[in-house]
Amino acid sequence: MKISVIGAGNVGSLTAMRIAQDGLGDVLLIDVVKGRAAGKAMDLEDARPLLKFNYHIKGSDDIGELKDSDIVVVTAGLARTPGMTREELLARNAQILKDVCLNIKKQSPGATVIIVTNPLDIMTLYALKITGFKPNKLFGMGSSLDSARFANLIAQELNLAATDIEAVVIGAHGEGMLPLPRFTKVKGVSLDEFLEDKKIEALAGRAVNRGAEIVSSLGTGSAFFAPSSAIAAIVKTIVKDEKRTIGLCSYLNGEYGIKGACLGVPCRLGKLGIEKVIELDLSQEERSKLAKSASLVAQAAGLLPV
Ligand code: NAI
Ligand code: 2OP
Repeated sequence: MKISVIGAGNVGSLTAMRIAQDGLGDVLLIDVVKGRAAGKAMDLEDARPLLKFNYHIKGSDDIGELKDSDIVVVTAGLARTPGMTREELLARNAQILKDVCLNIKKQSPGATVIIVTNPLDIMTLYALKITGFKPNKLFGMGSSLDSARFANLIAQELNLAATDIEAVVIGAHGEGMLPLPRFTKVKGVSLDEFLEDKKIEALAGRAVNRGAEIVSSLGTGSAFFAPSSAIAAIVKTIVKDEKRTIGLCSYLNGEYGIKGACLGVPCRLGKLGIEKVIELDLSQEERSKLAKSASLVAQAAGLLPV
């Protein structure tokens, strides 16, 4: 397997290390900044004798090296800086994504593509338009990270093993995020057996704002340890054809009553990409929240130049 990671920043370089250490394939790290990806690849390969693992990571500033990748992870983009509006960030990242996606289409038309760049749901829909790839082969990482964050916060509150919490968060990776306590279980037992509604609501609200909480604590940059873990888990599921159900930012074609937008929903994932979008039995209120996010995503992506 040739697995290419575009963007050798915080998320991209740690993702490259996790994929390599999990033995999922040969990794190519690409960054537009001259020498950045090559330097990180050298550093990562120097760790091999210490980690006792003969993985291969190559770094390049030539996007042409993408050729014949089996999986491409897109983390290239800018983070919001003080004074930059959301719209400016959207326009700048869309420009980067368009350039990257045209190269993926040319060099690796058969690849499975995982979009990470923010704003995630808009970028995933935009990437589908630019590449013309089928939605089962191009999707975004967001919901699995959001679900992990909700699970972790519940585990901390209950002082239980984080691995025993199965949290479900769907919707946008941002303000339209929709934590679903009704579907969230502690080893099969409903969350409301453990916590009062008010507490559950507070934890769900904190999960929605977790990315921002981390950004404000860090001062510069955003989260990368949990995001890279979420990406590596998606890559592993594809490479090993695990057929796990994972929250992914997927194109919706009638599921949940939505057509023409990308949002986080549970998906069965295997070597051919998304095999099935799983439809949860949502309440009317939950469905209308999702529909509202979908129209915002479609509207924003529709304004970007194809
Ligand atoms: P970073 O700033 O550390 O790295 C981004 C890298 O992209 C930089 O090294 C930059 O030189 C590179 N880049 C820019 N344009 C490029 C191009 N045309 N080709 C190749 N490389 C290019 O940022 P970080 O922390 O790694 O985050 C990356 C992106 O992922 C951001 O948009 C961030 O908001 C997003 N993100 C999304 C998450 C999600 O759950 N979907 C979670 C965490 C981050
Ligand atoms: C996060 O949720 C920035 O999307 C990124 O941490």
